[in-house]
Amino acid sequence: MFLTLLCIQAVVQVPVVSEATPAPPQNLHVDKWLLTWTPATEERDVTYTVQYLSFDNIVWKDVPGCSQTSFHSCNVTITRDESEDGCVMLRVQAERHGLTSEPVKFCSRYGDSCSPEVRLVARPGSLTVNLSRNHSIVWENADHVKHKVYYGKEGESLQKYEYGTSSVTILKLEEGQRYCTKVQYILYDKPVGLKSCTQCEVIPVSRHKPKQTYVIVTVVAVIFVAFLISWIGYVLIFRHQRIKHWLQPPCEIPQHFLMPFPGHQICSYTSSIREEHCDIISPIE
Ligand SMILES: *[C@@H]1O[C@H](CO)[C@@H](O)[C@H](O)[C@H]1NC(C)=O
Ligand SMILES: *[C@@H]1O[C@H](CO)[C@@H](O)[C@H](O)[C@H]1NC(C)=O
Ligand SMILES: *[C@@H]1O[C@H](CO)[C@@H](O)[C@H](O)[C@H]1NC(C)=O
Repeated sequence: MFLTLLCIQAVVQVPVVSEATPAPPQNLHVDKWLLTWTPATEERDVTYTVQYLSFDNIVWKDVPGCSQTSFHSCNVTITRDESEDGCVMLRVQAERHGLTSEPVKFCSRYGDSCSPEVRLVARPGSLTVNLSRNHSIVWENADHVKHKVYYGKEGESLQKYEYGTSSVTILKLEEGQRYCTKVQYILYDKPVGLKSCTQCEVIPVSRHKPKQTYVIVTVVAVIFVAFLISWIGYVLIFRHQRIKHWLQPPCEIPQHFLMPFPGHQICSYTSSIREEHCDIISPIE
């Protein structure tokens, strides 16, 4: 009994003792060189650290002045000078009592010198990601700059991707489904700058649908054949008496088949059931 109570107490106490990792910040926003975000929940004692990764670096570094800050914004102008082309990737993570959340990356909504400007054009079965090449990064690096276009259905993580120097058309997409994309510049095979923020578009359904017509015709034909088979089965099983009657040839029972019995009536049936001709056989002593 005492042990049980002890166990229950231990179980109850666990959530109090263990510290949950803080949720990552939300609503990340970039306006020129000022980053803003909102806390996930109303948590206390949470601080934020903004980190950047420039093109020629492998490790994420803290942005000076935005390390373990309790503010919900960060001026990252300083990182522009840290990178040769001024393009950096940026992320933020929440921290509480030494436990850190998953880092969340910032994205660029409108496109700038470091992020592609994306316009989506949806057509039946395909999605064209219209990308402008009128950006300083393209002027300076010409054909060494490519776009990496991530795509997938809405709600999925955008794992699939295609490369393109200018606009990219993704084919064989499911009609009526909503697809999303995000695009990043690739310079000398390395990602550079912020990804464009996720944009989604519904793939329209084509009006001309020979495939659909074919399916409808097939379904109707199958239903008709099934109905026909059922009807034939029904007739054979439940109406066989009537069929037998229909098939019966008109006939008369010959007289010598009818054995005369004393005091009995002898009837002769003709093909018409209603007509009966009866004679009384009187017993002969
Ligand atoms: C960000 O910092 C730079 C100097 O490092 C300053 O010139 C600029 O005005 C600041 N931006 C904002 C929005 O505070
Ligand atoms: C892409 O956008 C440009 C204007 O920014 C336009 O001229 C061009 O026709 C578009 N391309 C496609 C395939 O829609
Ligand atoms: C390219 O961008 C510059 C500004 O960055 C603009 O002045 C120019 O008109 C643009 N060219 C085209 C063809 O869109």
